[in-house]
Amino acid sequence: MTSPLKNDRFLRALRREPVDRTPVWLMRQAGRYLPEYRETRRQAGSFLGMAKNPDVACEVTLQPLRRFPLDAAILFSDILTIPDAMGLGLYFVEGEGPKFERPVRSAADVAKLGVPDMETELGYVMDAVRVIRRELDGAVPLIGFSGSPWTLACYMVEGGGSKDFARIKAMALNEPAALHALLSVTADAVVAYLAAQRAAGAQALQVFDTWGGVLSPAMYREFSLPYLQRIAQGLERGEGAQRTPLILFGKGTAAYLEDLADTGAEGIGVDWLVELGEAARRTGGRVALQGNLDPTTLYGSPDAVRREVRRALDSYRDGNGGSREGHVFNLGHGMSPDMNPEHVAVLVDEVHAYSAR
Ligand code: CP3
Repeated sequence: MTSPLKNDRFLRALRREPVDRTPVWLMRQAGRYLPEYRETRRQAGSFLGMAKNPDVACEVTLQPLRRFPLDAAILFSDILTIPDAMGLGLYFVEGEGPKFERPVRSAADVAKLGVPDMETELGYVMDAVRVIRRELDGAVPLIGFSGSPWTLACYMVEGGGSKDFARIKAMALNEPAALHALLSVTADAVVAYLAAQRAAGAQALQVFDTWGGVLSPAMYREFSLPYLQRIAQGLERGEGAQRTPLILFGKGTAAYLEDLADTGAEGIGVDWLVELGEAARRTGGRVALQGNLDPTTLYGSPDAVRREVRRALDSYRDGNGGSREGHVFNLGHGMSPDMNPEHVAVLVDEVHAYSAR
């Protein structure tokens, strides 16, 4: 059926097995910092037009892999496909980011939501996974992804991005049952979505809890963590070497590393506000760790990029009993449109060169 993997460093690292070099991929590795992406986007007309066309989504997924020897591909799509398929009406305003025509503002709005059908309403995502797997031809593994229930709910309730998350926090305080109902149906949709991506060919899965860190600890433990647990426990992903690893990425959630390591996920993605060595000590080999270079490091000179890459690699090794096993190199969050592709080349080269010694 499909070709065996030619490069399985990323999957081996997630199983905490020895690797010849530390694997590396970058959040938002496909995007506007690449001139070829901007050209494809100009032709396709819009971001959603790209994401909803499996051949274009495949082309854009492969663009960074043609430039850099990355160890994984990530599906070109968005976390907001689920609420869009739930009927909220996703659209993008140039320079303002994502918005919903019909945000969720009340218990009555929540009651109207259901889990979308994965092969019809979200069929374009599964088709993209299948096309990308075919075109990758086993070069590197393909990562599928979803937003976390909390992070998706933030966009669904706020109606777009937010600075203070006033609406959803008010819902948490005033109507916690409505918010739990929203998180619950969203968690069911996330589990079905990740399972469908896995069935279509995704070889690893990542959940983005981008806004987990805006919650107080008590609220995080009530409104985000339990739903991450539900995904890690409820998502069927096979056994042993065939198991499809799940990575839970959180921004500003380093305080909960021990809890995240206890969810049953195979990997935890960490931002740059925690030392990787400390993260490794605190999780004690129970999970693989992914991260955690500050993305703005890419604004530094090539020498500065190399120095910071070595620092992150050494920090992980020192906290992991002197071994590089169980580390997937990444940024602590996504890349920005004004970053220099040449600095990305330097980053990827240094990860491979330094970790091979
Ligand atoms: O990492 C990758 O290369 C895969 C593709 C990917 C995109 N979005 C493409 C995209 C992934 C994994 C995402 C996830 C995503 N989307 C998250 C979680 C990760 C994170 O960054 O925290 C969030 C919060 C979203 C919601 C979203 N989608 C926002 C806030 C925006 C606007 C961003 C901006 O810079 O304008 C998007 C649009 C989006 N998703 C773009 C891309 C490449 C920009 C599209 C464009 O204008 O061409």
